[in-house]
Amino acid sequence: MGLIVSNLKCDHRKNPLGIDSKNPLFSWELQSDEKNVLQSAYQITVKSGGHILWDTGRCECGRSAFIRYEGENLKSGTVCVWELTVWDNHGNMAAAQAEFETAFMNKEDWKAKWIEPVQTPAYHEPPQTSMDMGFCSIEAKDIKMQPAQMVRKEFILEKQVRSARAYATAHGVYYMLVNGQRVSDIQLAPGNTAYGDYLEYQTYDISSLLQPGSNAVGMVIGDGWYVGKVGIAGQSCQYGDMLGGLFQLEITYEDGSKAVVVSDEECTASAGHIQYADIYVGECHDAGKEQKDFSMPGFGADGWKNVTAAEYGYENLRAQYGDPVRVCDVLKPVKIWTSPKGEIMLDVGQVVCGHVRMRVKGAAGTKVVLDHTETIDREGNYQCNIIGKLILQQDVYILKGEGEEVFEPEFTFHGFRYIRVSGYPGEMTEDDFDILVINSDMERTGRFTCSDSRLNQLAHNIYWSQRGNMLSIPTDCPQREKAGWTGDAQIFAPTACFNMDVIAFLKRWLANMRIEQREDGQIPNIIPYLKAYHPNGVMPSNTHCSAGWGDAAVIIPWRLYENYGDKSVLEENYDMMKKWVEYIRFTAENELPEELENKLKEGKLTDKERERQKYLWNTNFHFGDWLTPSVSFNFETGDVDMIQSAFKTMDIVPTIFYVYSTGLMIKIAEALGKKEDQAYYRTLNEKVKTAFTEEYVDENGYIQTNLQGIYVLALQMGLIPEQLKRNAASRLDEMIKENGGKLDTGFLSVPFLLDVLCDNGYEKAAYDLLFQEECPSWLYEVKMGATTMWEAWQAVLPDGTNTSVSYNHYAFGCVGDWMYRKIGGLDKLEPGYKKILIAPVPDERIDSAETVYQSVYGKIAVSWKRNGQNMCVETVIPANTSARIKLPGGETVETGSGTYRYEYTMQM
Ligand code: BGC
Repeated sequence: MGLIVSNLKCDHRKNPLGIDSKNPLFSWELQSDEKNVLQSAYQITVKSGGHILWDTGRCECGRSAFIRYEGENLKSGTVCVWELTVWDNHGNMAAAQAEFETAFMNKEDWKAKWIEPVQTPAYHEPPQTSMDMGFCSIEAKDIKMQPAQMVRKEFILEKQVRSARAYATAHGVYYMLVNGQRVSDIQLAPGNTAYGDYLEYQTYDISSLLQPGSNAVGMVIGDGWYVGKVGIAGQSCQYGDMLGGLFQLEITYEDGSKAVVVSDEECTASAGHIQYADIYVGECHDAGKEQKDFSMPGFGADGWKNVTAAEYGYENLRAQYGDPVRVCDVLKPVKIWTSPKGEIMLDVGQVVCGHVRMRVKGAAGTKVVLDHTETIDREGNYQCNIIGKLILQQDVYILKGEGEEVFEPEFTFHGFRYIRVSGYPGEMTEDDFDILVINSDMERTGRFTCSDSRLNQLAHNIYWSQRGNMLSIPTDCPQREKAGWTGDAQIFAPTACFNMDVIAFLKRWLANMRIEQREDGQIPNIIPYLKAYHPNGVMPSNTHCSAGWGDAAVIIPWRLYENYGDKSVLEENYDMMKKWVEYIRFTAENELPEELENKLKEGKLTDKERERQKYLWNTNFHFGDWLTPSVSFNFETGDVDMIQSAFKTMDIVPTIFYVYSTGLMIKIAEALGKKEDQAYYRTLNEKVKTAFTEEYVDENGYIQTNLQGIYVLALQMGLIPEQLKRNAASRLDEMIKENGGKLDTGFLSVPFLLDVLCDNGYEKAAYDLLFQEECPSWLYEVKMGATTMWEAWQAVLPDGTNTSVSYNHYAFGCVGDWMYRKIGGLDKLEPGYKKILIAPVPDERIDSAETVYQSVYGKIAVSWKRNGQNMCVETVIPANTSARIKLPGGETVETGSGTYRYEYTMQM
């Protein structure tokens, strides 16, 4: 085959339609049947209609990822072809080309007006039902929701159309139709962002939908995250109280002349078939009220009302970045049964995020109600596992009575495995239901399997929790809060990077994080920020920003850089990270715990102690090592008291994250060539480390907070003096033994538990924890039939009782990262896997493992088989990378790209 160049990506996507980056990033992959292939040079030429916008000339450079466009200013609505030529170190050359198309590069390109259907503004919800969540107390009123609005406009096109694009977005969630046809399969557009400053619009190719003569465009707009209730607390109107739409059609006729059709006062609107559509409650579709042809020309829009034009400016509008949300899988129910209570129940066999498509026949007015849940009780009856009275996860379909009808909710999604179907007319079968799995449509990049089927199920569960929680933003869970909790995302980020191509998805979310960062540097715990958590809509200073959560601002960009090697993620977020660390520094320096504050007032605080306190971040509320099992759960009764783990660890955990974040800042400043900053963070990091050790670590290397998680974090962050590490690690090992060989780590420490054990010579103990089947453990969940990761280890009690927690929380799935690296043996030595480490750490309980990862440079594969002492390792190292292969129980080999196989007898 010689040299091939493929997988050309612009801004992380293949041939993207509608980008607005001024300097998009180009990446590609080399393939070759020769070994030790490195790129020696590349040339990129970007052209538009024959005109050269940028020509790099031949660059003697090995970089094949994230090359920044630096040509002429890109014009709006332009198709650009980029031609790529690459040369390798064997004298081969290869060429390929791809396209990208710009959307609106300037705000002035927008000619359309925001239009708002005449409606009563969506209810505000003054207090009624109160909910005390421990860390926030929320009040909400009866559920009241408004119908989705349909908007239409007719227009005449004089000539044959050559090409046409629609640019559209909404206040709410929407889909668009042209002449009766949906313009795309994107779901829940424009997605969930910090709308005030960051509202995405989508670009659609509508060339084939238009015709000379009469045409019509339509939009359906539901409450979504903009007007609807958001978050567990259910406060609505977070961004505005009026649904609105904005669209602009740019049409090029065959003869090259142009026409523009925009949303304006000529549009009309009507409430439609959707009685309400809420992300949390569910959707009600009254089929009798459908106006099927509303987006066709000539539709008699009787009773339709004029819309009003509104001024919102165009400053916050951005082109869709990264992959949109789509139906990414379709499952079939595996079982239908009638429960002891007489309910018709349906089992999907898998906890998912999405909704159903139902086929049904019956009389007009018949109402079918679908209640979604992740759990059933032990007798097989419906059981709701969600706390929060406003979260129903209920869809309602009212039949029109015209033969076979197909219902599919348009503006909601649920987290569920089971559905209770009420009111279905006649017999139903599995065939009448499709289960549509919905998430951001990202490429699956990683796969792991091994000889132990339980571990394979665990890897499956991790992947499915990722799918369930990456819908537009990274969320904690898809059934209850559906919120962008920062802590959960940072904990899971390394695992997420392996499973799916999350770079664009997380870069966009980080862009929202930058917007939501407060003046003083605080990062809200949830991005986009939810006012619902703070009843007045104002974040009280210092109380809602937690260590380990806010640190996502530093950790996630770093993890992305490590995994993809895209430096722009560090550059873009550098100021945010600095501000965050300054916030910590300021807080640590200026605030003292109450007891010490009093001592200071009484003049009893020594200068030395005051000085040390300046480097300890130990005031205010923090979630701490959240959900530390022994502190938060009663394994007998299943009772959960989440907040206890916060109270027990929130004095000590923040300083550990202060060390973590400053430690990363040293590396980040170095990667960006910021020498002064690097020195600054090094000094700060050392001072904080010293203060921590003096304050919390005794002369034997022991810590007073006698919890596994605290030891794990302290060891991981280098907070135990070198000569005492053995003691501390052995204490950790002891604690695990005392706990019956079970883990007792919370959210923040779990990611490091197995690594810390391995790094300190306790490999077997790490595997013992992994293979543990008693609660709490990963395989306990598998044993109890989990199909996703649970929020709490004892979600299902040993007797099979389901409890009221989330069954789809990816945080504890962070062990995936360890499994791929240590069992699979696939790891990185340089950012982006430019230099790969192949180093499986086999355990006698596993006979073989196979791990594949589609990196920025191409496919990396490792598979190994063990038969007693006989070992066989096979690996694929992609072109333009190199690898260090540490053969377990054998030698270490440095190598270039190629396929390698090693068979040998292990020396033990
Ligand atoms: C969420 C978590 C989140 C936490 C804050 C919970 O309600 O579901 O995953 O990180 O609150 O500690």
